[in-house]
Amino acid sequence: MSVLDFKPEAWTSSANEALKVSLVSENAIQFSPLFTYPIFGDSEQIFGYKDLVIYLAFDAITFKPFLNVKFSEKLDKEADDVEGKLLEFLPADVIRKDEAKWVESFEEEQKSFQLPPDECRVSSYQIGEETYAVYKLGISNDFCRKLHHRVQIFSLLFIEAASYIDENDTNWEIFWTFNVTTRKCVGYVTTYTYWKYTGARNFDANLQLKFRAKISQFVIFPPYQGRGHGSNLYNSLVDTWMKDDSIEEITVEDPNESFDDLRDRNDLKRLFNAKLVVELPEDISLEWLDRKRIEFKLEKRQFSRLTEMFLLYKNA
Ligand code: ACO
Repeated sequence: MSVLDFKPEAWTSSANEALKVSLVSENAIQFSPLFTYPIFGDSEQIFGYKDLVIYLAFDAITFKPFLNVKFSEKLDKEADDVEGKLLEFLPADVIRKDEAKWVESFEEEQKSFQLPPDECRVSSYQIGEETYAVYKLGISNDFCRKLHHRVQIFSLLFIEAASYIDENDTNWEIFWTFNVTTRKCVGYVTTYTYWKYTGARNFDANLQLKFRAKISQFVIFPPYQGRGHGSNLYNSLVDTWMKDDSIEEITVEDPNESFDDLRDRNDLKRLFNAKLVVELPEDISLEWLDRKRIEFKLEKRQFSRLTEMFLLYKNA
């Protein structure tokens, strides 16, 4: 041991750098997480190892996970329990260390892996030669629950302040995007519908119950980002809820900057296609704002921002 070995920093690794996540198919695509504090604590550091590398791999179709922790030296007593901490957030069927066993296991699972039935398909779209479809499934559906168990760690690793959803609450629905030929999942979004109280008169008259739909965790897996999947998934959600008379308003939980950007671009396109820019009155009244906002099922803040953007566009 050299004198440097007695310095704590010699045994400290950045969790975000040590954790290598990959999606594996014909080849493996590796990427780093943005956040690891829900797993390794606020400092996102791991103590007690030298040359620490944590491999967390997923089969790109079944998302069967594989975990392998490697290092050159470890402080036996003081080292953080890396594997133990990660296992708290991974499904029980994760395969550890034995890569051959993992490959054998996911190849076997792939044989019977089928996309959800057509009645759950809410939209399809084409990017290049490939066809993708979006499916809506309730959290109590077996396929949905199993796949969500496997992918949910991506919400923690890529969305700030995300936490696991309560799978026992059947109000959760998940929209999934799949490549229909390869069966690879491209991304998912967890959504929740809240009952919306519309006043005593409506309630007493026993009119149809109304709901507010919330987009909670929206993830396109890193290898598939920047190709339009996020926009297609978002538009698919919005179209589904626009057609649903029971949904009165579409909301988003803690959007980050890139999601705000995606949402603005797609909402603007939608309102533009609906000729809102042509209809925009000279003097915008509160009554007009409210009426149009309700028509497009948008939140007050979002609709005001979009109107402002249209005004800038019109007066440019
Ligand atoms: N060629 C080149 N660029 C393209 C193409 C294309 N064919 N199609 C789209 N793009 C561009 C878009 O113009 C956009 O550019 P911009 O960022 O400069 O505006 C960019 O790619 C992203 O648009 P999409 O491809 O439609 O979106 P993407 O599939 O990358 O999804 C998302 C965006 C959801 C933010 C994704 O990056 C992600 O999952 N990030 C990590 C998790 C996250 O941040 N989620 C949102 C948290 S907030 C919440 O959950 C409510």
